[in-house]
Amino acid sequence: MRHFVTIADLSADEIWRLLELAKNLKDDWRHGGNNPVLAGKALGMIFQKPSLRTRVSFEVGMLHLGGQALYLSPQEIQLGQRESVADAARVLSRYVDGIVARVFAHADVEELAVHASVPVINGLSDFVHPCQALSDLFTIYERRGALQGLKLAYVGDGNNVTHSLLFAASKVGMEIRVASPSGYEPRGDVVSRAQAFAQETGGKAVVGTDARSAVSGADVVYTDVWTSMGQEGERAGRMPLFGPYQVNAELVALAAPDAMVMHCLPAHRGEEITDEVIDGGQSIVYDQAENRMHLQKALLLTLMGD
Ligand code: CP
Ligand code: NVA
Repeated sequence: MRHFVTIADLSADEIWRLLELAKNLKDDWRHGGNNPVLAGKALGMIFQKPSLRTRVSFEVGMLHLGGQALYLSPQEIQLGQRESVADAARVLSRYVDGIVARVFAHADVEELAVHASVPVINGLSDFVHPCQALSDLFTIYERRGALQGLKLAYVGDGNNVTHSLLFAASKVGMEIRVASPSGYEPRGDVVSRAQAFAQETGGKAVVGTDARSAVSGADVVYTDVWTSMGQEGERAGRMPLFGPYQVNAELVALAAPDAMVMHCLPAHRGEEITDEVIDGGQSIVYDQAENRMHLQKALLLTLMGD
């Protein structure tokens, strides 16, 4: 593993090693034992879009590991505008030991990885959000002690988070069922790849338009915003189509009685998820948010450690 651009590039073994390392790091942190293994190392973080979780969890994660993170706002680098993506990658690589990039175009994070001589981590692109989905596997594993065979229902927009969940779940033998409004399904090539991974692991990946049948008997009910960053102009047009995909108490009642409700956050409360559900006893959304930090520390150690 040299970069972390999409979960599709990882083997099941690499995923499991990251999950186990995150578990150990979280245990150490709980007991007050942070180990400065990245002392003297720097992480450059390029953000073209806003962030709470990704920025803060990487920054604090680097602090725990004894290193330093630099936040580079959209005004600083102006990726691909002030200078080429390749030049930015080459120059940054002379200063820092790793790069996190949150970009609009997925091609930009791929190009950074091609030209950087240090590891590049995708902090979200319009195509995938791998740090999120890998952390989510960790959160589910932490709760259930296993992943194989668990059923995850994703209800809503077939977006970057959906794509990464499809890759992540299928790589570890879970059953993932996606329900999206017609025209807003995840990309067909992603679904095909996830189905191919699932065939190797005993998992399953299915996509449809019926939220109720997707959620029926599921162990996890997952949703995300109906309009992602950069799609704000489509909000009014999407709202009427997405109504039947709201994760509310009635929908969650169809899942397994002990089902967990997940959302990557930020949430648009009252749209894709009701207050009652996100604040209810089955919701684990804040554990999810916390676990971003633990899982990403495992990534940083794996990619940047000696
Ligand atoms: N879930 C997530 O990536 O949150 P931020 O956009 O706040 O980083
Ligand atoms: N799908 C959302 C995820 C935010 C963490 C977006 O891209 O805006």
